[in-house]
Amino acid sequence: MQQLVRRGFLLGRTPSSGTERLNQGDLDRWNQGLPVFLPAQCLASLAKHRTNTEQTESLVTALIEDRDCDSVLAQAPYLNRLEPKFQSLGSIFNEGDQQEIEMVMFDAMDGDKIIAEDLWLKASWLSFHDDDVSLRFRFSFGVDLEEDVAADPHRQQLAAELTDAVFPESSIITKNSDLIDKLKNLLASEGVRFVERIIYFNGPNGGAYLHHDLERGHAGVVFAQLTGHTFWLALPKQNLIEEIIRFSKSTPWPNSLTLEMRKEMSDLVGDRCYLAEQLGSFANTSLIHLINETEEFVQFLIARGYSTTLKPGDVLLLPQTTEETCCWHSVFCLGDEMGQALSFAIRADQ
Ligand SMILES: [Fe+2]
Repeated sequence: MQQLVRRGFLLGRTPSSGTERLNQGDLDRWNQGLPVFLPAQCLASLAKHRTNTEQTESLVTALIEDRDCDSVLAQAPYLNRLEPKFQSLGSIFNEGDQQEIEMVMFDAMDGDKIIAEDLWLKASWLSFHDDDVSLRFRFSFGVDLEEDVAADPHRQQLAAELTDAVFPESSIITKNSDLIDKLKNLLASEGVRFVERIIYFNGPNGGAYLHHDLERGHAGVVFAQLTGHTFWLALPKQNLIEEIIRFSKSTPWPNSLTLEMRKEMSDLVGDRCYLAEQLGSFANTSLIHLINETEEFVQFLIARGYSTTLKPGDVLLLPQTTEETCCWHSVFCLGDEMGQALSFAIRADQ
């Protein structure tokens, strides 16, 4: 049993034994919006990529030590892998985004001809907490959070290739034929593509609050743990809503909720539609505090069987198909090691 600590909040311990509900088939779980746990799915290829993951750790160390990403990528071994296809245009620093570390812009070239513009790698901190150095590298194109990425599969594919050039360990997922077969089966698809890629480093005291990754054109997310350990709570949105209501009927509101917050939560659990809307807004601080920052609710979800522990080589699939069934998830770092993981959106290739 390990301590769960995130952004300064003590959230109890991991369960003594697995509480995952493993009595259903993977296809049933996927279709219901439940996470699909694939233990040791990529274990065999981790050793082959050790040099790459160690190189990536050096890049992360450079960023934590305040060196800029663009100048690291202008040196070996990155330059040879990026050029001539991907030409760096330098970095942009968005003053309005406090979590952003740096955004490196690229053109994709075919000889002297530009075949795609505005591809980017964006490095960001995962939280504002002083003792949390968790960060991620996200690859996409165009205006972040405004672009309809599904509408431009050409640039989406090039952004994916840009990830391969910077992080060759991406092939732990993209060349894993057994994993691809499983995904084709879950999606009833002839093929799959891995797009909107993110390389995660979850460090001690870090992780992610409950959220979804629903995006048009994507079926879900594949998350592969390469180094370190993470602990997950993952369940479909409709189950999360039911569990918040169930919690309110079985447990007093945690002491950390003020009287005003308790009143607000009582109003929310009395109206499913309002609760669903406030959950989706990511703006209700009482709700965010209850579900992410109280030991009582975290331990309630664990006891209800929604937790999974990932060790190096394990894979977790998170279906993201509809608003109601998309799998919401919350991540915690376990132990003292800042671990690397790959998180790629899955696109059915019909
Ligand atoms: Fe996510």
